[in-house]
Amino acid sequence: MIKIAPSLLSANFVRLEEEINNIQKAGADIIHLDVMDGHFVPNLTFGLPIIKQIKDIAKIPIDVHLMVSNPDVYLETLGKWNIDYVSFHQEVENHIHRQLKVLQKYGVKAGVALNPATPVETIFPVITDLDFVLIMSVNPGFGGQSFIPLVYDKIEKLRKLADQVNPELEIEIDGGVNNINAPKLINKGANILVAGSYIFGSANYKKQIQSLRNK
Ligand code: DX5
Ligand code: ZN
Repeated sequence: MIKIAPSLLSANFVRLEEEINNIQKAGADIIHLDVMDGHFVPNLTFGLPIIKQIKDIAKIPIDVHLMVSNPDVYLETLGKWNIDYVSFHQEVENHIHRQLKVLQKYGVKAGVALNPATPVETIFPVITDLDFVLIMSVNPGFGGQSFIPLVYDKIEKLRKLADQVNPELEIEIDGGVNNINAPKLINKGANILVAGSYIFGSANYKKQIQSLRNK
C-alpha cells in the first residue's frame, strides 16, 4: 500500500489545525513533520512543544523527520509520546544501533534518513535493524526544491537487499515529489511519498493526494 505523507513545512502555519484537518479529509495517510535546528540545515522550524500539540489533535500517524545535528536529545521524548515514525540523519549519528533501540523500545518505527550525496550502502550494515529508510531527493532544509533523480538507483538497490533480508522495510522519499516522478518512485520500491509544495501549493488537496497514488 502506498502511503502519502503531506509535509506541513508548506502548510499555512497560522492556520495549522485547519490545514491538518483538511489533509486528513483529503485522504492523507501520515503527517510529515520537519524539525530543523539551523545547524544541520540552514533553516529553523519547530520543536517538541509543537510536535506534542499536533500529536494530540492528529487522527492519522505522525512522522517526525529530525534534520538536526544532535537527534539524541529528542528520541526518548518522542518515544514516550508514541510518535509513529521517527527518523534521524545518517550524516550526524555514529551510534545508530543505540538510537534505533531507544525508539523501538517505545514501539516507534525507527528510520535513518540519507542526504542525496550519502551512498545508500552506508546503511546496509544496519538494514535488519531498521523499520524504514528516508531517502532525501533534495538537500534538506527547504520545501519547493527540484527533485534529484539519482534517488531512483538508491531505491532500487535498497529494495533489492531489503526483499532478501528485511521485506517489511518501508522506503520513504522526501523532496520534490510530484505526480510526474511518483509512479517511477513507487515502481522502484518506495511506499511512503512525502510531498509539501505539491500538495499545499494547490487549492485541491484531495486531487493532489490522489494523483500521487495513481501508478
Ligand atoms: C526538506 C523537507 C521536506 C520538504 C519537502 O528539507 O525534509 O519534507 O517539506 O517539500 P517539497 O515536497 O516541497 O520538496
Ligand atoms: Zn522531511
